Amino acid sequence: MTASAEQDNGESTTDTSTAEIAVYWQEEEYYHAPDSFIEQANLKDRDVFKRFALENFPDYYKEFSAMLDWYQPWDTLLDSSNPPFWRWYIGGKLNASFNCIDRHLDIHKNKAALYFVPEPEDEPIAAITYQELYVRVNEMAVYLQEALKLHRGDRVTIHMPMVAELAVTMLACARIGVIHSVVFGGFSAQACADRMVDSDSSVLVTMDGYWRDGKWLDHKEKADETVRLAAEAGHAVDRVIIFGRYPGEYRSKCQLVDGRDILINDALKAYDGRRVAPEHMDSNDTLFLMYTSGSTGKPKAAQHSTGGYLSYVTAMSKWILDIKPEDVYWCMADIGWITGHSFIVYGPLSLGASSIIYEGVPTCPDAGRPWRVAQRLDVNIFHTSPTAIRSIRKVGPDEPTKYNYKFKLMVTVGEPIEPDVWRWYYKVIGKADAAVVDTWWQTENGGFLCSTVPALDPMKPGSTGPAVPGIHPVIYDEDGNEIPEKSGKGGNICIRNPWPGLMLGIWGDPDRYVATYYQRYCRDATSKDWRDWPYFAGDGAMQAPDGYYRILGRIDDVINVAGHRLGTKEIESAVLEVDGVAEAAVIAASDEIKGVIPEIYVTLQPGVEGTGSMRQKIVDVIVRDIGPIARPRNVWLVPDLPKTRSGKIMRRVLASISNSKDTGDVTSLANPEIVEAIRKTVSR
Ligand code: WT7
Repeated sequence: MTASAEQDNGESTTDTSTAEIAVYWQEEEYYHAPDSFIEQANLKDRDVFKRFALENFPDYYKEFSAMLDWYQPWDTLLDSSNPPFWRWYIGGKLNASFNCIDRHLDIHKNKAALYFVPEPEDEPIAAITYQELYVRVNEMAVYLQEALKLHRGDRVTIHMPMVAELAVTMLACARIGVIHSVVFGGFSAQACADRMVDSDSSVLVTMDGYWRDGKWLDHKEKADETVRLAAEAGHAVDRVIIFGRYPGEYRSKCQLVDGRDILINDALKAYDGRRVAPEHMDSNDTLFLMYTSGSTGKPKAAQHSTGGYLSYVTAMSKWILDIKPEDVYWCMADIGWITGHSFIVYGPLSLGASSIIYEGVPTCPDAGRPWRVAQRLDVNIFHTSPTAIRSIRKVGPDEPTKYNYKFKLMVTVGEPIEPDVWRWYYKVIGKADAAVVDTWWQTENGGFLCSTVPALDPMKPGSTGPAVPGIHPVIYDEDGNEIPEKSGKGGNICIRNPWPGLMLGIWGDPDRYVATYYQRYCRDATSKDWRDWPYFAGDGAMQAPDGYYRILGRIDDVINVAGHRLGTKEIESAVLEVDGVAEAAVIAASDEIKGVIPEIYVTLQPGVEGTGSMRQKIVDVIVRDIGPIARPRNVWLVPDLPKTRSGKIMRRVLASISNSKDTGDVTSLANPEIVEAIRKTVSR
């Protein structure tokens, strides 16, 4: 039986390694934001919790839309007549690029909108003012419209490294109503091609190459491969638009394809000085697609709206990240993930702040790099993930103390943070003088679900905090009973109410949207009342007596590597492509730096020999099909996999072996004897 058959069985495998963290965690001590932070905070009025109480839903979300400029005000706040397809701010018209650029020009046109920090430290930092961003976005938008004949509603795929041109291209699309689909630059050509096919997009925007960890990576290679793989799947990519990492140069070894490839820095010269009025988009027009992994193989595109999404990320940036126009804000996530969309590009720019785009890895060329950037640009808000914090701590535990910078606020996101790592973040990186917010949310959500409000709630290491204003969580047990509030008992966390940042749906697959996020706890599938449709996040969580939530990790077949979801099915099906492989199971192994890292257990077909080169082939196919982010720590070739009598692979047992934990009672397995045999293989 193959791994996919397990899916039909309906049982779900708990990611033990993450879930167990919580079991070992104790209640932690509180920390308080310094008075200097509280005095200047955007949100310091406790009244917000009353205004955003559930009985005032949905009216309180008027406040969020009021943070934007609209061409036409909305007439209906929430249309909930077709659950669970909620529609916000109906009748409203706006443009995201106008809100992120044009509306700041009067006051802030000479202020840096973006700083591009190249990885090579001898290359100068580029400051792009709001005026310059306005010019570049306009010229690119006219180019997309006139040269490529793209229209409102068309999709464009962007597969780029962390450079300013990525943000420019996104905003250019937004300006003319083209839907952007950004694929994380580190993803493989296969991943990019799959997403182009799924979103039916025939234009790929890319870059010749970029710097990563001191090495020049040829990125155009991936574009050629993407086009080839898409063609194999019957999908034509007509145009490949290539930015030069060094404008005016082309540093890739790959040939340009006549009629298909365009060096955009040259092509844009003909558009010098051109401007285009922003499209008046409907609030519920799609702004972008962002792919994410779910518990079935195929990645799915979260389809985000214009009005609801932008209102939500603007409000969260203002209230939780405390961003103001005068702030210099650095989020180290990649724009290719939702964190970068919401909190490098749309949120900070909507508020007129200066946002940093850093090309490379944080520890290149040495552990002092982030702090030199912070010191030089006088960064005062810093946003990163537990993975990055752990790796920064490992290479330079005292580095931050050597530099002169001062953060007012710091953010962590992506996975539960160990209290010990939190304390180091707070004390050493934050010099015990900054507010820290631990923000829990997902690709599908647009912005935060849980976090402390930094000037109003104390911080507690390892807990995300209460829900953000307007979000009302509930924890259910397996049978759909509500777990009593503040009981400290674990269960499945859901959100009672819809909110404007929630995606419109899954691109091209409305049934999957309903099945994944609502089926599990919907009280009545025919109900038109939003109260019957709690949003199922797919995370385990518990609420402590003080009301703070602690997230216990994913409850489905998804593993969270370096703060990002990877589908186990996707990885396993890549492994099954290798000749001679019979079965594959991926588990999450604990890792000091990355939190978890995939480990693969493989059985081979009879007569096939388990060699080092077989293991290498398996690693290669994973890196090729998914990307280096999924590179496994080990590939274990084993005689059989532990299975239930119904043939379900017991990943939980494998995870215990990988993490040197007790496997618990395995006597109910169909093949209990295999557990000891596998343990021997692994401990060798
Ligand atoms: C999953 C979403 C949008 C954030 C980037 C990852 C886990 C996220 C936290 C946190 C504990 C967290 C959850 C969630 N997660 N933030 N602060 N504490 N867990 O986005 O790839 O959509 O993954 O990341 O398990 O469901 P994503």
